[in-house]
Amino acid sequence: MTNNHKIAIIGGTGKVGRYIAAAALQQGYQVRMLVRNPGKLKDGLDSRIEILQGSAENRDHIRQLLQDCHAVVNAFGQPLGEAPLYSTVTSMVLEIMNELEISRYIGVTGGSLTLEGDRKRLMNKVGALLFRIFFPAMIKDKQREAAIIQQYCNIEWTLIRLPFVVEGKESGHIKEHLTDMPGFKISNRDIASFIIRQTTEAKYIHKSPFIAT
Ligand SMILES: NC(=O)c1ccc[n+]([C@@H]2O[C@H](COP(=O)([O-])OP(=O)(O)OC[C@H]3O[C@@H](n4cnc5c(N)ncnc54)[C@H](OP(=O)(O)O)[C@@H]3O)[C@@H](O)[C@H]2O)c1
Repeated sequence: MTNNHKIAIIGGTGKVGRYIAAAALQQGYQVRMLVRNPGKLKDGLDSRIEILQGSAENRDHIRQLLQDCHAVVNAFGQPLGEAPLYSTVTSMVLEIMNELEISRYIGVTGGSLTLEGDRKRLMNKVGALLFRIFFPAMIKDKQREAAIIQQYCNIEWTLIRLPFVVEGKESGHIKEHLTDMPGFKISNRDIASFIIRQTTEAKYIHKSPFIAT
């Protein structure tokens, strides 16, 4: 991707996503962000960010968000206990990306998601089991989301698996692993810079790396 390209962001006001737009602007990208309540953004909103008010549950809003974009970053999130919509939202995003011929998708999910080929150490296996026990609907839906993403061979997707996310500075020392979580936490600024790096790197296309610091 070149710097005059536009990135569409979902979940850019959330804990994970709140620095993604800034990281994209810093690299010279244009940014369009879908937000439900623009009022929430008044403080610290960069005027270069194009804001689209709407919901990720609405197909027309997603289509407007993605129009003319070259990559999509999906950091959509829901409170625990809400009926999970991850697979529904992601499925709609990928369908519309296909329609609009947008090829790069970068999404996030939890490190408790276990995929074929993983070799999680015991502690991470136990963590994943506890998530399955306490949040069965969410984990099931996130498994479904991952399976849907994997079907889109024509889209250059990356699904990033995250540990506990903290507010904090960028460390610049991200540990990456394909089969096990290499740490317990990561800052949202580190996540933002890792995500934006993926827009120009091919290393994790069609892969689901774990990252941590
Ligand atoms: N936080 C963690 O420690 C952590 C750890 C591992 C993985 N993750 C994963 O990271 C992802 C994001 O989590 P998060 O903690 O950042 O969640 P969050 O803080 O609750 O943020 C969720 C984001 O999604 C947006 N959103 C929710 N429903 C929407 C809708 N209908 N239309 C448009 N936007 C909507 C929210 O916008 P509003 O401002 O409008 O609500 C917000 O920007 C999830 O997949 C989560 O499982 C999080």
